[in-house]
Amino acid sequence: MHDVHASPALPRVIRRADYAAPDWLVPDIAMVIDLDPAQTHVRTTMSVTRNGAHDRPLRLDGDMIEPSIVWIDGIEADAWTRTGGMLEIPLTGQHHIVEIEVLLAPERNTQLMGLYASGGLLCTQCEAEGFRRITFFPDRPDVLSRYKVRLIANKARFPVLLANGDPVGTGDLEDGKHYADWDDPFPKPCYLFALVAGDLVANRTTFVTRSGREVSLAIWVRAPDLAKTDHALHALSTSMRWDEEVYGREYDLDVFNIVAVDDFNFGAMENKGLNIFNSRYILADPDTATDYDYDAVAAVVAHEYFHNWSGNRVTCRDWFQLSLKEGFTVYRDQQFSADQGSAAVKRIEDVRTLRAAQFPEDSGPLAHPVRPDEYQEISNFYTATIYNKGAEVIRMMATMLGRDRFRAGSDLYFDRHDGTAATVEDFALAMEDAGEIDLAQFRLWYSQAGTPRVTATLTHHAGDGRAMLSLRQHVPATPGQPTKQPMVLPLRIKLFGADTGKPLGEERLFLLRDAAAEIAFETVTETPVLSINRGFSAPVVVETNRTAADLAFLSAHDDDPFARYEAMQQLMLDTLVTAVTHGHADHQAVIDAVRNTLTDANLDSAFIAEAVLLPSDSFIGDQLAVVDPDAVSAAREALRRDLGRALERDWREAYERSRANRFEYSPAAKGARRLRTVSLGYIAASGAADAAELAFVQFENADNMTDRQGALTTLVSSHADSRIAALDIFYNRYSDNPLVLDKWFSTQALSSRDDTLAVVEELARHRDFTLANPNRARALVGAFSVNQRAFHAADGRGYRFVADQLIALDKLNPQTAAKLVPPLGRWKRFDEGRATLMRGELERILATPGLSKDMFEQVAKSLD
Ligand code: PHE
Ligand code: ZN
Repeated sequence: MHDVHASPALPRVIRRADYAAPDWLVPDIAMVIDLDPAQTHVRTTMSVTRNGAHDRPLRLDGDMIEPSIVWIDGIEADAWTRTGGMLEIPLTGQHHIVEIEVLLAPERNTQLMGLYASGGLLCTQCEAEGFRRITFFPDRPDVLSRYKVRLIANKARFPVLLANGDPVGTGDLEDGKHYADWDDPFPKPCYLFALVAGDLVANRTTFVTRSGREVSLAIWVRAPDLAKTDHALHALSTSMRWDEEVYGREYDLDVFNIVAVDDFNFGAMENKGLNIFNSRYILADPDTATDYDYDAVAAVVAHEYFHNWSGNRVTCRDWFQLSLKEGFTVYRDQQFSADQGSAAVKRIEDVRTLRAAQFPEDSGPLAHPVRPDEYQEISNFYTATIYNKGAEVIRMMATMLGRDRFRAGSDLYFDRHDGTAATVEDFALAMEDAGEIDLAQFRLWYSQAGTPRVTATLTHHAGDGRAMLSLRQHVPATPGQPTKQPMVLPLRIKLFGADTGKPLGEERLFLLRDAAAEIAFETVTETPVLSINRGFSAPVVVETNRTAADLAFLSAHDDDPFARYEAMQQLMLDTLVTAVTHGHADHQAVIDAVRNTLTDANLDSAFIAEAVLLPSDSFIGDQLAVVDPDAVSAAREALRRDLGRALERDWREAYERSRANRFEYSPAAKGARRLRTVSLGYIAASGAADAAELAFVQFENADNMTDRQGALTTLVSSHADSRIAALDIFYNRYSDNPLVLDKWFSTQALSSRDDTLAVVEELARHRDFTLANPNRARALVGAFSVNQRAFHAADGRGYRFVADQLIALDKLNPQTAAKLVPPLGRWKRFDEGRATLMRGELERILATPGLSKDMFEQVAKSLD
């Protein structure tokens, strides 16, 4: 089904500099879609208008489709031609009506782009370029049209028919069919088109907007899942209210529908008035979803809802502007989540994600700017850089402007560009105009790739009560960008007195603009300790001359909880890097700092649980010139064991203290569960004889998935025989629940046991394993490839396993396959033996006949 690339050696490169306005506009479009899994008829009627003075033909994109008939102004036409996927129609006037019929076979669509079947439903996915798999159209986000859609289908099989906009009519037809008409009054690009047909039930409520309009909200699922939709529906109302209060944004249609589908390439999609979700970001109940899942459901529901303004009412001019909607919307959903619980813990989680996903991307072969200059396949650019670094760029603007001026900037942006396709530059201009700030140099954040590195050295002259902070910045080279200019780095800085533990003056926001700068602090009478990049005010790597004692001090005394966490992380990281590079390290400073945090009665459990966790294997590896995954995990395990042993009484005390009587979903209860499972992990790491027993009891008695999966995770990395029993119990209990079975696969793929690779190879042959479902593929292959020890087995068997899976997956679903390439692409970071083996697998993939262009781009760039 997928695009077979005839000559993958010559991929077409799309360049931002080549942008030109569309030759033809399509102000109105009407579609009649007669749905059937085996053969769907799509009849599209477009009014087309010549845009500017030119004599070029109408050129419409198409992908794997053929026109069965074309009419021009009501007359069947045969003057059209086909070039590549394009349909080219010569036209003489300024306005014409073009009508095209296309036949589709959604049940054969394994790419999950365009119109496809999932679990008895028919649904669509059009972003970025899926609409051209449904009909011929100028498939680019700057062509905005008003849609009228009639859906027709067998009434018994597809009783529910949904599309964008508002419902305007339904009725019965012959042969057991029925229809539904939908009108979307807001002009939109075709990537926001959607339809769903199926046997669905809804969880409904109404929402009254602040100007008094009543909106009917519905979450559509298959009947057995209905009981798992309350959390998502509640999150939807909450985010609608939040966007009114915080951004002044009101909803604009009479209905807002969300549909959950099991087969989905991404998390969810913001189609106008009809969001389509991966079911993992809708369905939640205590028995099947972890606290992490609950939080992710709320965050993704909010994210897609927020797109109604940041993405839909104001959309993107071209795909190079993707971060205009994604970076801003991620920032908005992060703010929303921070407002629902602990803002500090949310910031810690967001920074952890950034470091786990974006920093490695920014230092590897696929590094690209937040606003890229070129791409081969746009699907490959839905990255952590566009999303998460893009959100950090918005956050820095908000930090520099302050709340009110940032809000004025966003109001101006929405006002100016409502109903249009805008650019990143438009956003920056609105912020400059309303916020009275000059962002000329700041714009480098959009054009320069790479994570800036800051060196901060604090010196104190006790005699004259002066402290000097000297700062330097360096932005490393990235592919295609050998030299860089200094960027604007907003650094929140504060000094603390080492003797009193008190702040020495107020926090300062310092904008580091030059390659180097010095900041003086006066009347510093005590030895100062530096707290820098508080709240992670700039997404950079900071190196300081702080000692282990300074870091331990900050982990106990800093008044910014994020900075406390950060100091602890840095202390742990320094210790682990010493252990890896010298073969051993003194663990005492970490043990003391962890004890202090663990037993600090003023801290909440959620924060403690985050702060006492060791940095991941891959984050430790990122600090090293050449990564030895075995040495890294040995060092980490040794520190875990020592922490477990030295603080065993405290872990047990925290474990008991965090015991709950019954499930509750509140920040306090979530924090307690988190700390409980983290403590269990340390008890197990200590080697305590009863650890497996404790874990098994927790596993069996749990009244919620967080405790159950937490216990299972501990068992699955242990030597206890009860791990087998627990896995069987878990499997049997949830064998008909695909989302929980995904956990069963991923928990095993993430195990730190020596036999993980063999287990994973076996699981790939399990009857419940399939590459056809993206969640399942990610649960096994994706999870395994981030398991540093197992994936990097020195004999290359882990690499071979992943490459085999990717080659197979590419034939079904190139988009999902291509997203799993980056772990193999990081070969430069490893010793020569591993690097050669990794390259060998990349080369084997590249040589595969019929490789998709998605895979080709990722793999070829990774080999460079
Ligand atoms: N636009 C979606 C989001 O971030 C992501 C997505 C991209 C979904 C492409 C499907 C396909 O909200
Ligand atoms: Zn998004």
